[in-house]
Amino acid sequence: MVNFPLRRHWIGRIRLAFTLLGLPQTLCTSGVRYGQAISSSYCRLYPTMPSSESPHVKSRCPQYPGSNIKRFPVPDDKVNWAQQWPQYDPVSYTTPLILNKPAWADPDIGAFSPKFNTVDNGVDRTSFEGSYQVENGKPLNPRGRTGLAGRGLLGRWGPNHAADPIVTRWKVDAKGAKMHHSVSARPLLQFVSIKRKDCGEWAIPGGMVDPGEQVSLTLQREFSEEALNSLSASPEDRAKIQERITNLFKSSGFEVYKGYVDDPRNTDNAWMETVAVNFHDDQGNSVSELPLQAGDDAGQVQWVDIDSSFPLYANHSNFLELVAKERKAHW
Ligand code: BGC
Repeated sequence: MVNFPLRRHWIGRIRLAFTLLGLPQTLCTSGVRYGQAISSSYCRLYPTMPSSESPHVKSRCPQYPGSNIKRFPVPDDKVNWAQQWPQYDPVSYTTPLILNKPAWADPDIGAFSPKFNTVDNGVDRTSFEGSYQVENGKPLNPRGRTGLAGRGLLGRWGPNHAADPIVTRWKVDAKGAKMHHSVSARPLLQFVSIKRKDCGEWAIPGGMVDPGEQVSLTLQREFSEEALNSLSASPEDRAKIQERITNLFKSSGFEVYKGYVDDPRNTDNAWMETVAVNFHDDQGNSVSELPLQAGDDAGQVQWVDIDSSFPLYANHSNFLELVAKERKAHW
């Protein structure tokens, strides 16, 4: 993992912190939702959350993830749609998987013309970025040009909404006393991490918001499916899991981030947005007591010490840093 120059400074305002952390790093991108593993030896850049002032970077990675498709090179000063650029001629690409019309993806624009900037037929087509433009029936990426038209690996035209549940507890010794880091002397936090099947990176057990689903439910569902394997649990175990999760997640949680993600899967017409929320089991007697079991998109699952040196998928490290600062824990 790359060391952020500003890592050790708490900025206080989340948006500003992400702006400052919006630096390129290495990664393996995610595939698509619901168990479709996409291998990813492509664009090795972590998604980040650039501010409106700093242009997205990962969304312009030269080679599109999981393909041989090259993006049209977009210089920083041409990212903004407001800049006239008649020469701009990006290739249009949507993976065959999406073109096969799985239930969770939109059909191609033409016969299909969804209502953008609103919740249309249960699908949330609003953006955390505010109202986005629609040109020739296609939504335009609110952060500007990416060098690729179409949807690439993403199922929805416009915003593709994800949710990232960050479940934490204090690391304790055999007697139940909080453990502290030997150098920072701060208490150690642990979070539930999954090893993604698609790229082998450790990550927060996040996933896509289903049509009509409240984000609060997505957070619970993704955590139950990926970290507790609720999909394969017996009805009794599933009920037990559900009860614990509901109890922990009904606490309001700490909203770590909400907005656009500079993800290499983004295109001119489709992009990732996420809500990352921290749920903390302070007494260690809630979700901490449930046996972790990897399921769905997760190959492995475990409690991992939160520490800046632990490499993580996408921009997830940025989220954990904010959680550690908020809870005055070691980072
Ligand atoms: C992942 C989330 C991630 C989001 C944006 C989703 O596919 O499941 O964990 O935050 O993409 O990169």
